[in-house]
Amino acid sequence: MRIRFAANQLPDRLALTVPSMSDAADPRSKLLAKHGLAFGHSHAPNDRASFAKNVVVVTSGKGGVGKSTVAVNLASAFAQRDWKVGVLDADVYGPSVPRLLSLDDARLEWNDADRIVCAENFGIKVMSVGMTTPTPDTPLIWRSSVATSAMVQLLEDVEWGELDLLLIDMPPGTGDTQLTMAQEVRVTAAVVVTTPQLVATDDVRRAIRMLQEVKVPIAGIVENMSPFTAPDTGVKYALFGEGGGRWLAEQYHLPLLAELPFMLAAREAGDAGVPLMVSGAAEQKRPWDELATRLLQTGLLMAPRPQEEER
Ligand SMILES: Nc1ncnc2c1ncn2[C@@H]1O[C@H](COP(=O)(O)OP(=O)(O)OP(=O)(O)O)[C@@H](O)[C@H]1O
Ligand SMILES: [Mg+2]
Repeated sequence: MRIRFAANQLPDRLALTVPSMSDAADPRSKLLAKHGLAFGHSHAPNDRASFAKNVVVVTSGKGGVGKSTVAVNLASAFAQRDWKVGVLDADVYGPSVPRLLSLDDARLEWNDADRIVCAENFGIKVMSVGMTTPTPDTPLIWRSSVATSAMVQLLEDVEWGELDLLLIDMPPGTGDTQLTMAQEVRVTAAVVVTTPQLVATDDVRRAIRMLQEVKVPIAGIVENMSPFTAPDTGVKYALFGEGGGRWLAEQYHLPLLAELPFMLAAREAGDAGVPLMVSGAAEQKRPWDELATRLLQTGLLMAPRPQEEER
């Protein structure tokens, strides 16, 4: 028997299945085994996202650096290039992808084959634990073993269709979700997001080391909230410091994929639920679009399926 998502009842029903952390050395493996889920290994991961030609995780050791913003804007950039794109919100405890894509009212639906239907907006398919709760402000009070199991289901029990790119928006840290993704999904590449200041790079270094440890290829570093130049005065403001992304890239011999400036419009677009890549002026879109180009230039991603293949 598998854990089933049931609208309105999900947290309680899943909570009942939670083993106590004290009586299991690895509660996750027990839980997965109980529900017939074989446990992958980061050196030989399961392929639970075989529906996607490329799987890119957007990650960072640090919270609030712009992972979700980067994920939805990258998704938009690829959707605008006619790629079939999905975003999996892996931030179980703080899902923000639904709001960033104006899908905060979306709730789970099942198709005739009893599979969960993705929400969709701006040409991007979306699945998030945020869509499983009765209201967007319902907190999920789950042990990580349950969160892990839920993540696996959001990959396997969802009708994603054939995707060219699945972007996974990761929570901050180097914990269970990060490990699960490395073990259960063949990740094509990781995009590591940092802000320019030293205190962020400390956490991000740990994330880089973890990715190396679990053998996930790193496409490169994205520095977000880089200094911006005021359009009216031409004065440069380094609100979050300067140079952290370049320093990390040099330190770990990784490409610096982008230095995305701090832009009021980026924050406003997030709150409005329309990515800057969709709503912004050409010069506001350019840094994100260049990030997509740089990601492709790493050579890690496979080309999208030709459109004819579907017909
Ligand atoms: N380049 C930018 N310019 C201005 N504001 C930005 C930029 N990038 C992100 N933000 C804003 O910073 C805040 C944090 O961004 P976001 O939620 O994407 O970060 P996160 O790393 O996903 O956070 P968490 O760790 O909580 O998941 C949001 O309010 C977002 O709108
Ligand atoms: Mg986030």
